[in-house]
Amino acid sequence: MRQTLIVGNWKMNGLTADLAWSEAMIAALPDGPGVRAVALCPPFTLISSFAARLPGWISLGGQDCATAVSGAHTGDVSAPMLADLGCRYVIAGHSERRADHGEADAVVRSKAEAALKAGLTPILCVGETLEERESGAAEAVVTAQLEASLPECEPGSLVIAYEPVWAIGTGRTASAADAQAMHRALRSALPGGHGDVTAILYGGSVKPANAAELLAQDDIDGALVGGASLKAEDFAAIIAAGQ
Ligand code: 13P
Repeated sequence: MRQTLIVGNWKMNGLTADLAWSEAMIAALPDGPGVRAVALCPPFTLISSFAARLPGWISLGGQDCATAVSGAHTGDVSAPMLADLGCRYVIAGHSERRADHGEADAVVRSKAEAALKAGLTPILCVGETLEERESGAAEAVVTAQLEASLPECEPGSLVIAYEPVWAIGTGRTASAADAQAMHRALRSALPGGHGDVTAILYGGSVKPANAAELLAQDDIDGALVGGASLKAEDFAAIIAAGQ
């Protein structure tokens, strides 16, 4: 059985005043997250403060890491630095990094490898654009992205996130049936031994109103939540949805 994992991705949002999210989460889920595992990926600037403040049931993650361990890379943050702060996860290849920073599959793969070497669990993101979906190429595009960005690793040592680009921050969500079909295709595209044990999260306008239906699908093992994770009450409602 794969445990359901709910991850909040704050993207480039959050100031020190927003650390009170931690107490709001405890108030919203006083008995903890139930059977689900939970992680938060705040901006780098808040990781240390959250590490000192979050309840034990919320793990931390970075939103990106460098391919290198250290050195002359101004502005970059390495996987060992994230591990040093107590992170358990790091997102690799989010579509916003692929688009804004030109990160190709080979770079994403190197980032996932760097994460694994540092003892972190990469959350490897894939997803198609609207044009790719409308032209009927979604499955081919997404499985090709997965194959080209997947590092060699032990089964169960990474997490995949399917995030259709057209559903991110748009309020438009993939239907549960379409998301399930893509998750099934991704699971089949994973190398031998990985399919049964790899958690595949869905991301793209997940909110309290649609979380239960998405999470009920056989191959959807959790959610990567952007906008709705900024509000503790909404994120808590997603964690609780359908349990
Ligand atoms: P939204 O939930 O805001 O659509 O963002 C999804 C996402 O990109 C999470 O990584």
